[in-house]
Amino acid sequence: MADDRDTRPDPEVAPGAAPGAEQAFDTGATEAEGGSSVAALALAGLTAARKTLPPSLFYDEEGCRLFYRITELPEYYLTRTEFRLLESVAGEAAASVPAGATLVEYGASDETKAGMLLRHKDAAGASLFRAYVPIDIAGPALRAMRRRMAGSHPGLTVLPVTADFMRPVLLPARPEETAVMGFFPGSTIGNLEPSAAIGFLSRAREALGPGARFLLGFDNCRDPARLVPAYDDAQGVTASFNLNLLRRLNREAGGDFDLDAFAHRAVWNTKESRIEMHLVSPRAASYRLAGQTVRFAPGETIHTENSYKYPPERMEAMVAAAGWTRRQVWLDPQGLFAIWLLD
Ligand code: TRP
Repeated sequence: MADDRDTRPDPEVAPGAAPGAEQAFDTGATEAEGGSSVAALALAGLTAARKTLPPSLFYDEEGCRLFYRITELPEYYLTRTEFRLLESVAGEAAASVPAGATLVEYGASDETKAGMLLRHKDAAGASLFRAYVPIDIAGPALRAMRRRMAGSHPGLTVLPVTADFMRPVLLPARPEETAVMGFFPGSTIGNLEPSAAIGFLSRAREALGPGARFLLGFDNCRDPARLVPAYDDAQGVTASFNLNLLRRLNREAGGDFDLDAFAHRAVWNTKESRIEMHLVSPRAASYRLAGQTVRFAPGETIHTENSYKYPPERMEAMVAAAGWTRRQVWLDPQGLFAIWLLD
């Protein structure tokens, strides 16, 4: 079981809640990752030899809004491809658990994908899922989701957990015999370094317990002609999403970054098999952040995110290293996106 240092009850909901009553867990709105402030996280990345910023900082309210717009962009094929694929396979995937199971989603910004699994019933008409545990760094999005689902999914217990799922997450208690399915859609696995992806998958395996199933959605495309526009769209929404990191540092961490002085860049790194996102400072510049100076050489970049695109054999090796077995594979008709069922 994960330790409880990194999640604690949401003060809005939890005090006095009876054991087993619906409650939420929250790491606290001003902390971007358990315990560390936005300023400390940002400074650690920006004072390194190669500048980086942790992707968890993307998801403030504006970041969440911009990310939602990315998923609707014509160039960004991932979300709609996965959505269609999930629509056609959700019944079969959900049927791999007995009725009354718990669905645990990692990185759940809204309930649309989970909803496709949650609606399924067994042959006797019993709901396959009785509880839904969405885990996400964005507390406000989770709270909105929980309110919506109280109306749209009566009878379903929704237990949101506000946490960075890269750290040990304490899952709400559930009866011993309850079946569990982990759900990690959106190719978010590709945003982790390969070793961190294996670490995540094995921690999830431990947290979900023996007998758990796991549904993993990931991008299979390695064609830069399709990928680069997907991460650098014509309307500039992805650029704005990337730049929002600096906007957030200006607002929350005493930064004075000139947003107009940075450019968004998406590059395909063939050797590493990943799309990289950078913020480039074309000119020499220095900025203040949390009382310190951050200097940029001309052309220096902040490497803000990776999106790895794993060939199936690589993914197979990673899930196996984390102790999972691949049970079933589904691909969309164009072979762009894969959903794997693990146990
Ligand atoms: N996991 C998705 C992807 O890699 C979504 C995503 C995460 C994303 N961070 C992003 C998309 C940054 C665009 C930019 O595509």
